[in-house]
Amino acid sequence: MGRRRKPKFDPNTPLKEQIKPVFKERFLEMFNNDEKEYDKFINCIMNPQRKSFRINTLKEKNPKKLLQEIKNKDFEITPVPWSDNAYFVEFIKGKRIDLGNLYEHFLGKIYVQEATSMCPVELLDIPKKIDDNFKILDMAASPGSKTTQIGCKMNNSGVLIANEIDYKRIGPLKINLERTGSTNIAITNLDGKNIEGNEIFDRVLLDAPCSGSGVIRKSPGTIKTYNPKRLKGMSNLQLKLFQRAFELLKKGGIMTYSTCSMDPEENEFVVERFLKNNPNAKLENAKLKELILNHKLTKFKNKEISKQITDKTIRIWPQDNNTNGFYVAKIKKLI
Ligand SMILES: C[S@@+](CC[C@H](N)C(=O)[O-])C[C@H]1O[C@@H](n2cnc3c(N)ncnc32)[C@H](O)[C@@H]1O
Repeated sequence: MGRRRKPKFDPNTPLKEQIKPVFKERFLEMFNNDEKEYDKFINCIMNPQRKSFRINTLKEKNPKKLLQEIKNKDFEITPVPWSDNAYFVEFIKGKRIDLGNLYEHFLGKIYVQEATSMCPVELLDIPKKIDDNFKILDMAASPGSKTTQIGCKMNNSGVLIANEIDYKRIGPLKINLERTGSTNIAITNLDGKNIEGNEIFDRVLLDAPCSGSGVIRKSPGTIKTYNPKRLKGMSNLQLKLFQRAFELLKKGGIMTYSTCSMDPEENEFVVERFLKNNPNAKLENAKLKELILNHKLTKFKNKEISKQITDKTIRIWPQDNNTNGFYVAKIKKLI
């Protein structure tokens, strides 16, 4: 009989006791060694993530009515201020909130999506009316939360390419796109770095593969597998994808770069390296309604972060909005 592997994450030991010293050391530095703030962060990520959903206006033309129907099922609902037709669902004591089991979900009238993950699409400035030549690329798309969000905003006009490198992840992407009723989407199964062409798309979303240190509330095991040594390889991949995404963007077009990581090597430092190589890229001010953004980074591991990156990009700490952690940068390609 083979030796049994030690589980990476022990669900019976409190999460707080499974934090690696390197995790504490790095995150404490991100809070300027303010133990109180660090504790607030840790206490927040010890709790499961707050649920939220979007109404899919491709399938539901009367969002108000649908919302009332969901409320009638005894869900407590509050709007997500920074996203269209999106709502938090508060926990009601004694009731299980399983939005994925709702009939409305099955019919594709709602899409369950974490509230911070809605930010990069909101920042793409997709016009209300678009013509058939308007093209959007979602470079790393599966399982399709943001693809379906873009699809909703495009209202089945123009063309949306949903690309995903991992063939095993194409299935879930396809199911989500079918369920939500987008008819203007084509799926491709390519390495984003190898997508050919130049200045094709009016908008590009790069929701990059990352370490996931912002989504510990969703995947608590991340706290046990956290390993900053992996960040170098990850950030090199992110930069390459970023560069290709930008080359695929038309002049005057907008792209967003996002991760669900809190590690500066995957966020501010990637944006810094990208901007240095691309003088025709303009970092735009990423602003979203009522999104609280505290603890912006100005420096990490003795490396200064430029003021424009600190000020203009979005670093969302879970404890500030009771969400996951997330990062977004918005870029315009100069004409
Ligand atoms: C953060 S997830 C995307 C989540 C998705 N945007 C959503 O909102 O549902 C990153 C995705 O990038 C894919 N990926 C990793 N390397 C890639 C590459 N070189 N080119 C394209 N996609 C890649 C992963 O398989 C993964 O599905």
